[in-house]
Amino acid sequence: MQETRRAVLSALGEGPITGPELADRLDVSRAAVWKHVEELRSEGFDIDAGPAGYSLVGTPEYGGIAVEYGLEAPFEIEFHHEIDSTNRRARELAMAGAGDIAVVAAAQSSGRGRLDRDWASPPGGVYLSVVVRPDLPLAHAPVFTMAAAVAVVRTAREAGVDARIKWPNDVLVPRADDRARKLAGVLTEMEGEADRVAWLVVGVGINVSQGEDRLVDGSTSLGLEGGSVERRLIAQRFLKEFHQLRLTPNEVLPEWRDRSLTLGRQVRVESSDGVVEGEAKEVAFPGSLLVDTGEEIVTVAAGDCEHLRPTE
Ligand code: BTN
Repeated sequence: MQETRRAVLSALGEGPITGPELADRLDVSRAAVWKHVEELRSEGFDIDAGPAGYSLVGTPEYGGIAVEYGLEAPFEIEFHHEIDSTNRRARELAMAGAGDIAVVAAAQSSGRGRLDRDWASPPGGVYLSVVVRPDLPLAHAPVFTMAAAVAVVRTAREAGVDARIKWPNDVLVPRADDRARKLAGVLTEMEGEADRVAWLVVGVGINVSQGEDRLVDGSTSLGLEGGSVERRLIAQRFLKEFHQLRLTPNEVLPEWRDRSLTLGRQVRVESSDGVVEGEAKEVAFPGSLLVDTGEEIVTVAAGDCEHLRPTE
């Protein structure tokens, strides 16, 4: 966000403050103050102009400035009311050299999931893709995907929903009938240079306020689970947790294990090397699943994992 606008917002948040006082404090003209106030109003900020001056009385439900205002992470926000895919746009920005930026959309027309699947992205969800440029060997990159899943779990918990992770990075809400519902997914894309990560795009789709009619079968949303549904706060919380986890990567796998729905279960994993069936024993750095087939322990680096029901 532009520095002056950030300063205007923060002063209005502590308001009331008069136009001349604000102009003095920020060392800008009164006309500039008025222009910022009008721009913020057009973005949906509710700014009261009373006898004691301006004060901020309401923040818009969603939008770029709304997400940046109060964001406790150093990401620039590029907001779209609708876009084809935030991952596609984030890749474009990454290839042009950008870093520490999050592309956030209220809806996507061609949202993409893992394994070339579609990701239904109607209004009501949070769709965002973060561009990061960590100084890491390529082989360590999966930790960022795991970090995103853990960040979603923390975000869901903050919203009042107890979510768990299915390897490698599906976020599910468990059900008594053992048919957990999908709440969120993570799609990571990256480019490397000389065995180092050049950039990573970590895309996350979280079902927030969609009702049954706007969800694909087997999915759920924070709202349906009785959680809070303010997309601005959900996006901000995710970005804060993701940023915190990238600073403390050693916390990622232990917390992933704690929140795992996969470990200890019978699973069937399809990977490029074939199908592995057995008990999911452990997740090992940087995110591989260790499966005990009964004859050997097989390490699977990537694949599609199905939880087998106890009777299968
Ligand atoms: C999955 O298959 O579970 C991963 C889904 C990832 C969807 C998100 S929504 C934001 C970002 N943009 C996309 O096109 N996909 C990811």
